[in-house]
Amino acid sequence: MHKEVLIAPSILSADFMHLGAELDRIATADYIHFDVMDGNFVPNLSFGIPILKQVKAHASLPVDVHLMIKNPDKMIDTYLDAGADLLCFHIEAAKHAHRMISRIHERGALAGVALNPGTSLALLDSLLCDVDMILIMSVNPGYGGQSYIPTTAQKLKKLHALCQEAGVSPLIEVDGGINAQTAQEVCSYGANMLVAGSAVFRGDYAQNISDLRVAGKSGLDLQI
Ligand code: DX5
Ligand code: ZN
Repeated sequence: MHKEVLIAPSILSADFMHLGAELDRIATADYIHFDVMDGNFVPNLSFGIPILKQVKAHASLPVDVHLMIKNPDKMIDTYLDAGADLLCFHIEAAKHAHRMISRIHERGALAGVALNPGTSLALLDSLLCDVDMILIMSVNPGYGGQSYIPTTAQKLKKLHALCQEAGVSPLIEVDGGINAQTAQEVCSYGANMLVAGSAVFRGDYAQNISDLRVAGKSGLDLQI
């Protein structure tokens, strides 16, 4: 079976004063990961619609929008209008998750659901067959540069089993503290899409992306 790992650099760690040039330097990635923080669902503010529109106008890569906001139900259409290719909301914040996923699909985008480290996989039960991507947070959301939480591995293992049981294979994205070492670990437990901020935006970005890809692939190959 042909298996690849998708790499989605988080531009939260980019140099915002030179965002266009920063986007050019991650052109070998698969997605741009766009972290929207509202200072409410998470204790930090980042960026939103106007910046997303500019990123879309500049970049050729698809954009993976990670909404860390309260009341995401109200914002789905606005983020789709701004160009989200993959739109992911937190299950802890959603009022009508199924309706949101249907709406995202109606609008022709991919739908993702994110879970905080303290959130049970049980909340995914009725959504597993509908989502295109499941985002397992490996840090508590709100900041870049945090350390990977080791219990993520067990959660990924359970999720992989649940997906196999349901006969579905959504993208499984992991976000937070991902570097070459943790990339290999999470992919050995079934992750196939990696977000990385601080591990990409330093030194040689293209090399960092390639290192993550190689490490992730070696993890996937370890998988039984
Ligand atoms: C955290 C964000 C992440 C963050 C990852 O709340 O969702 O996408 O930017 O940053 P690193 O890779 O530095 O942990
Ligand atoms: Zn994120």
